[in-house]
Amino acid sequence: MNNSLDPIVYLNGEFIALKEAHVSVLDRGFIFGDGVYEAIPTYAKNPFRLQHHLDRLNNSLHAIQIKNPLSSKQWHQLIEQVIQKNNFEDQSIYLQVTRGVAPRKHTFPQYDNPTVFIMTSPMEKQSLDVMENGIHVITLVDNRWQNCHIKSISLLPNVLLHQQAIDKGAQETILVRDGEATEGSASNLFIVLNNCLITPPKSPLLLPGVTRDLIVEIAHKQEICLKEQAIHEEDLFNAQEIWLTSSTKEILPVTKVNDKIINHGKPGPYWHQLISAYQDYIQEQRENNSNER
Ligand code: PDD
Repeated sequence: MNNSLDPIVYLNGEFIALKEAHVSVLDRGFIFGDGVYEAIPTYAKNPFRLQHHLDRLNNSLHAIQIKNPLSSKQWHQLIEQVIQKNNFEDQSIYLQVTRGVAPRKHTFPQYDNPTVFIMTSPMEKQSLDVMENGIHVITLVDNRWQNCHIKSISLLPNVLLHQQAIDKGAQETILVRDGEATEGSASNLFIVLNNCLITPPKSPLLLPGVTRDLIVEIAHKQEICLKEQAIHEEDLFNAQEIWLTSSTKEILPVTKVNDKIINHGKPGPYWHQLISAYQDYIQEQRENNSNER
């Protein structure tokens, strides 16, 4: 059992302290960014929507031609062990699979030798300020590749696009490709326009977010108008509300895009309705889990 400063992680068959976890400099993850990852929120030690994350991991691995080194059952067991070996309640699980160690050649190595790494850290709660006043974002041209549905560890474009927001005093970037807003640098995009929730349809140009899917489910259940359709850049400036969603940030209200204030600078009524339903759903998961323990 370890604390958050010195968590126990899983690396290639072993549970060890994070500071003892090392991979070779020849790992293709290090050399080429040749690998994929998942980030999974864990409430009351219960991984949230885990099978959805494992399904997307499977798709990402398949897309880059790495054979999934573990069965779904093995993934469940390893993740459960990492969670239980660390003594903080709400955790953010990060897992990564790379093509492993091989001489530096672009050609895939002949034999499968993937590196499997799972770590955990405490889940960060959203600040009261963000929940009351929302975040500010900028728009930038989406200059990433055409395979953004793969959850690749090659995140340099995302990192650079995100940092431009930070450098301008904003918190996130909304990416625009050919006049259409696709997603954030590490989040999916929703807007409310004409009293209807809109999110771009799944395509290779954005990550199929697990949080996005849950919001779509909740909206259907609550009979809120929801359309999966393109969001034009100008729609952002006419929107009643804008949200960015991810496993670690949940549902972030956006109250300023570039210089335009959204909903008088406050999170709107649709956001309040959805965040409340989302938090109820998390609470149900927590209680189910504590009944099982
Ligand atoms: N990122 N789009 C991008 C580009 C992302 O990186 C993420 C998540 C999402 C939201 O997906 P989900 O709801 O499944 O978390 C959308 C994670 C949190 C990260 O990189 O840490």
